[in-house]
Amino acid sequence: MGDRLKGKVAIVTGGGTGIGEAICKKFAREGASVVVAGFPEDPVEDVAKEIQQEGGTALPFTADLSTEANARRCVETAVSQYGKLDILINNAGVFPEVNMLQDYSEEAFDYMIKNNVRSAFVMSKAALPELHKTKGNIVSAGSEAGVLGIAQNTPYGGTKAFIHAFMKGLAVEQAQFGVRCNIVGPGPIDTAWTHESTGPMDSKMVKMMKDATPMGRRGTPEEVANVYLFLASDEASYVTGALYMVDGGITIAKGGVGSQADSEMKKEPQGELDLEHSKEGHTSIRK
Ligand SMILES: NC(=O)c1ccc[n+]([C@@H]2O[C@H](COP(=O)([O-])OP(=O)(O)OC[C@H]3O[C@@H](n4cnc5c(N)ncnc54)[C@H](O)[C@@H]3O)[C@@H](O)[C@H]2O)c1
Repeated sequence: MGDRLKGKVAIVTGGGTGIGEAICKKFAREGASVVVAGFPEDPVEDVAKEIQQEGGTALPFTADLSTEANARRCVETAVSQYGKLDILINNAGVFPEVNMLQDYSEEAFDYMIKNNVRSAFVMSKAALPELHKTKGNIVSAGSEAGVLGIAQNTPYGGTKAFIHAFMKGLAVEQAQFGVRCNIVGPGPIDTAWTHESTGPMDSKMVKMMKDATPMGRRGTPEEVANVYLFLASDEASYVTGALYMVDGGITIAKGGVGSQADSEMKKEPQGELDLEHSKEGHTSIRK
């Protein structure tokens, strides 16, 4: 047990599974009292119980966190049970479909707006009055896909780009109340989403994702939680409006995807210009 969040109260949305479970457990080990929040069908009770069994402090909260009424109830639960709120982690999110846009369902689009965008909006709104009192902070789940977009789930990338801009705007707006706002941008992480047996990605997409990552593997949920911990703690007292990538380098890498290109697209066009010097350019240090 550490003390990097000693005496702090945190809500972690989507806390029952994946990266959220790791954040809850990491925060509890560092001394935070944690509200493990998720959908009623999520194993949030298990996570809270496991934390308690380890000597930590946690309670489960189940509801659809994309409605304002439920978001308020979640914040009220933290305050009534633990006396205050210092940290909101907007980690809840969904990745329901992988499809080319021409085949992409309106239902999946709306589902992502609700759970990726709306939940962060209503939870942040509900939490702010309490965060003003504690001079607390918000850390939200962005994504590598929100920086560069993601093929075959293009609306998902859009929802994460929303989170990036939303949090940066909030960071500026809320500084006058002493509230910091930051973003964690995971790359491919080893959760249900990135396995063909548990998520919508097929094996080709999973392979492409790993091949595009300089580190050649998925990140672990704990590796992501480590960065949430830093940003949520007082160690990050001068960090606000920041996007911390935890992505094995995938965002800056360029590899892996060329092999997927359409064969026509791979053919160089003939062109009409007579270019005599195209390979005579400046390629070494001139003295
Ligand atoms: N896994 C990755 O590769 C990856 C990459 C980039 C970003 N992320 C982001 O990290 C976050 C966690 O992803 P994960 O891979 O751990 O997925 P996950 O499915 O294991 O976790 C997300 C959790 O949020 C819950 N949730 C979603 N909408 C909710 C709502 N309205 N109310 C209550 N609970 C809700 C889900 O039920 C689930 O338990 C997401 O925001 C995701 O966009 C993940």
